[in-house]
Amino acid sequence: MPVITSIADLKALHRKRTPKMFYDYAESGSYTEQTFRENTTDFADIRLNQRVAVDMTGRTTASTMLGQPVTMPVALAPVGLTGMQRADGEIKAARAAAKFGVPYTLSTMSICSIEDVAAHSDAPFWFQIYTLTDDDFNARTIARAKAAGCSALVITVDLQLLGQRHKDLKNGLTAPPKFTLPVLLDLATKWRWGIEMLGTKRRFFGNIVGHVSGVSDPSRLSSWTAEKFDQALNWDRIRRLMDMWGGKVILKGVLHPADAEAAAAAGADAIVVSNHGGRQLDGALSSIRMLPSIVSAVGERTEVWLDSGIRSGQDVLKALALGAKGVMIGRAYIHGLGAMGEAGVTTALEVIRKELDTTMALCGERRVQDLNRANLLIPNGFFDTYS
Ligand code: GLV
Repeated sequence: MPVITSIADLKALHRKRTPKMFYDYAESGSYTEQTFRENTTDFADIRLNQRVAVDMTGRTTASTMLGQPVTMPVALAPVGLTGMQRADGEIKAARAAAKFGVPYTLSTMSICSIEDVAAHSDAPFWFQIYTLTDDDFNARTIARAKAAGCSALVITVDLQLLGQRHKDLKNGLTAPPKFTLPVLLDLATKWRWGIEMLGTKRRFFGNIVGHVSGVSDPSRLSSWTAEKFDQALNWDRIRRLMDMWGGKVILKGVLHPADAEAAAAAGADAIVVSNHGGRQLDGALSSIRMLPSIVSAVGERTEVWLDSGIRSGQDVLKALALGAKGVMIGRAYIHGLGAMGEAGVTTALEVIRKELDTTMALCGERRVQDLNRANLLIPNGFFDTYS
């Protein structure tokens, strides 16, 4: 067994063990991938303020997200096609999150269905929906999530159309994969993945195939998004989805203070400052750069979380110190899943919690709630380099 000490170790194994098409789907941004890259390099540019001779005993990373106790304020983000990274991937990730004491979010574009994940995991999970034109499908999906006991709805507000990720087009991404010669040659070296996939029936978009029709190629995310997603979306439509749900709502994909204002006015219980992991508008600023202005705008009215770029507990600490009440991770746990299945997701969470705890201690803090701007050293002009 390789010794895993970081998310980078899991990423290397994920790449080795997973078909290229699915690894590339996770590990890419749109167009030039500038935003995708800067999400991580901007975190790296922020440094930490070491303190000494501060009692570091009795530390805890525990907190709450939406009032729900969490062992650390790190939720698993919705990730499409998770069940293609590893057979039954959504069930494995949901179980690992439940055991660890952090929330799991199931994507609408998952392979395992809502009912299937609910039947195989002990804790309630959150469910993510996109903003689709078809209100009948929206209402039925929301009713299914309620019936499955989902405890919050995550509405993705930054995907009225799909940002272009070149690799997905070049790889001919579909779920399940179509067996072209390059795919077969690739699969020949990913035998573990193939054997596990042969052992499961969960190989299609479980929440939508059979629940909605009229899509030209149901195996392609690009067909669903091009043909069903609501390009006419506005705040009235978002409020309508929130009303259909009637419970706690997280609006994910806000990157501008004015949009954060609108989200808070609509009654969001939490917003996620996010550029969708650099997968939508290439050229947008990293979410860590946008965080403070959004916290100042709405931090008193709604919980502000962040995603995009978190690959370590140190990144979590930086986001919390800049005012986020929590974060979501996507690739960091997907690397764990692709590397080692459920155990890999648990390892990813352990790595992150340990890094967060150790870094917090060396910064002289004992509670994640106490992290603050003084824990950080930030390059001059970092937040106002662009105007
Ligand atoms: C879907 O939300 C994606 O980013 O591929």
